[in-house]
Amino acid sequence: MESKIFITLLLVGLAAQSLAKPKGKSSKLPEFLKVCYRDSPDLNTCARSSFESLEPRLMNGIPELYIPPMEPLRVPEIKMDQDSGAIYLHSVYKNVKISGISKHTLHNLTIVPSQLKFALGITFPKLKLESQYSIKGKIMMMPMLGDGNCKVELSNITVATEMIGEEYKKDGATHLKIKEIKVKYELADVHMQLDNLFNGDKALGKRMNDFLNENWRSLSEEVRPLMIKALVDILRASVDKLFDAFSYDDLLPSMKM
Ligand SMILES: *[C@@H]1O[C@H](CO)[C@@H](O)[C@H](O)[C@H]1NC(C)=O
Ligand SMILES: *[C@@H]1O[C@H](CO)[C@@H](O)[C@H](O)[C@H]1NC(C)=O
Repeated sequence: MESKIFITLLLVGLAAQSLAKPKGKSSKLPEFLKVCYRDSPDLNTCARSSFESLEPRLMNGIPELYIPPMEPLRVPEIKMDQDSGAIYLHSVYKNVKISGISKHTLHNLTIVPSQLKFALGITFPKLKLESQYSIKGKIMMMPMLGDGNCKVELSNITVATEMIGEEYKKDGATHLKIKEIKVKYELADVHMQLDNLFNGDKALGKRMNDFLNENWRSLSEEVRPLMIKALVDILRASVDKLFDAFSYDDLLPSMKM
């Protein structure tokens, strides 16, 4: 099966508002960050409690760590072009608001310094996405057309990611960047509502929404590669930004230093 997928994620807004370089000449880790030592036997316990102590701050964002406000997370625009046979769609989502990120369960957070490996598993019981959308194309042979507001609710989404870093030198210091990144996710349920489909034709619009909600499982498999790519791009950009701003010794010092 020939399958083509294109995605353009405009993260410009995220980058501009929150990933801007913090004030001051050289970047210093914020003092509220609990420092963990890479050669400590308690590294993973420490990493977990460091993550947990950051959680309350995630809601408003942590500009020092290039983390945008997470509750809600706002993305100015997401464009998706998909041509996978069953789904042929051009879609644009504007003013995307994602709520529910702050309510999550961390399953694991593992750092393996000898492999520069970082792994994370997290579940979000409920994520709500609201945005303005514009869609044109075909889903399973049916024409799909609309623009208006849309809402999507995702239940029990579990995301697991594994990143392998590599070292490089910058201004005499060792920094990391992502060499390999793997992301996977599972969803328990999806509910969506697209207003104003087919130029406001209520009967057609309802039929399409019912169809989407009845078939979300197979449809979500169709968009999985696109979603994975989006998640990978977002994670890679954010983590590399952090790694670029702080040296490896700043982020994860050695006890021997
Ligand atoms: C971490 O949690 C995720 C999600 O539950 C799981 O898929 C992954 O295998 C776990 N990783 C480890 C190292 O336990
Ligand atoms: C989500 O997970 C919780 C806890 O495991 C469970 O009680 C709930 O029924 C799940 N929701 C869905 C929609 O599967």
